[in-house]
Amino acid sequence: MTSTRPPASGAHPETATRPVLHGHTARLPWPFPDDLDAFRYSVNVEPARVPRRTAAGEWGAHIVDLGGEEYGAIMADRRRILDADPCRVRIMPGMLPACWDLLLYYLRDLAASYPHVLELDEDGDRFHWRNHALGTDQRFVLGDAGSLPCDPMTFLGREIPDDLLLVKERDGALSFDAGLVTFAAAWSVSFDVGMTMAEIHNPVPRLTHEGITSRAEQFLRRLPADQVYRRVNWTFSASGSRRLDVSLEELPDWGTDIPALVRDRDWGRLQLRIEVEHFVRLPMTGAVTFNIRTHMTSLEQVRRVPAWRDQLARVVLELPEDLAAYKGFLDYREPAMAWLLAGEGAA
Ligand code: HEM
Repeated sequence: MTSTRPPASGAHPETATRPVLHGHTARLPWPFPDDLDAFRYSVNVEPARVPRRTAAGEWGAHIVDLGGEEYGAIMADRRRILDADPCRVRIMPGMLPACWDLLLYYLRDLAASYPHVLELDEDGDRFHWRNHALGTDQRFVLGDAGSLPCDPMTFLGREIPDDLLLVKERDGALSFDAGLVTFAAAWSVSFDVGMTMAEIHNPVPRLTHEGITSRAEQFLRRLPADQVYRRVNWTFSASGSRRLDVSLEELPDWGTDIPALVRDRDWGRLQLRIEVEHFVRLPMTGAVTFNIRTHMTSLEQVRRVPAWRDQLARVVLELPEDLAAYKGFLDYREPAMAWLLAGEGAA
């Protein structure tokens, strides 16, 4: 496949013919390598903090992508959900030290990545965190629950757009033992917390049968403390709007969105949902993160980038039926992709 990558910066003849893209599209973590025509599940992990060029821009320089101009809106949504539904945070007994570990690792990383917006001052076990974009100004003592307005996982979750998941070895198995999840793709943190990797992934077609679940477990067990990895996953959203929260908890609110979109053949509104997942072995407790940042873009936007348009249609139409059914688009993929490939103005 021919790539139409833009230059990193500066003028280039290519830019003259390139469509004008929103900042959001330029930063989108396109989930497929340039030469990919057929998608199958795999342990598709790669080192993190490495910028990746796409046909529309670049992503991936930092562990946390604050989200540009969307940051305030995403965080308002996250905080509203957390205030309304405390069950979106689930911390199993014994996991509080790992939550402090998570908080400190991320605040240090954020301050290093965005020094003009985020600051962390340290004095022994005393810390001073300032987030100039959201107006947070908080002093705390590491490990002292009374020094924060909430538990450390919730404090972090109210500062960054990522869903936070922690995995620990328990009784010989890797278990999902703490999570703050407001933007789940049709699953529920309350239902899944406490489960092993094997239990969580059993319903996913091919994953366990083809040995991918056990290879993923091996990868997590061997993850070194000094290297951070990431993985990109994709699907179509279960909602036809740019709504991030399609957790099972909210099913009555979004459950009729896709049937309505299919009925109206409103394919341009269909949302490609992309998850960037980061794996970090936390230095003090050895717990491993599986933090998920969700991005969405409509087919309308995808259609503006010819390389993306063509690749998405190829991958979606080629996907075996069991995977397309699990991802939820078996019934409508053909008309949706026909719309994507048709020219401007097609119905
Ligand atoms: C390298 C490691 C991993 C790989 C390769 C992997 C792979 C997958 C795949 C292929 C799916 C199906 C998603 C789709 O098609 O859209 C999935 C779903 C999921 N995974 Fe993982 N996973 C990994 C690690 C983890 C970890 C560490 C956790 C938990 C802490 C986790 C939690 C989940 C959950 C909650 C779902 C949704 C299940 C559902 O639909 O009910 N995964 N994973």
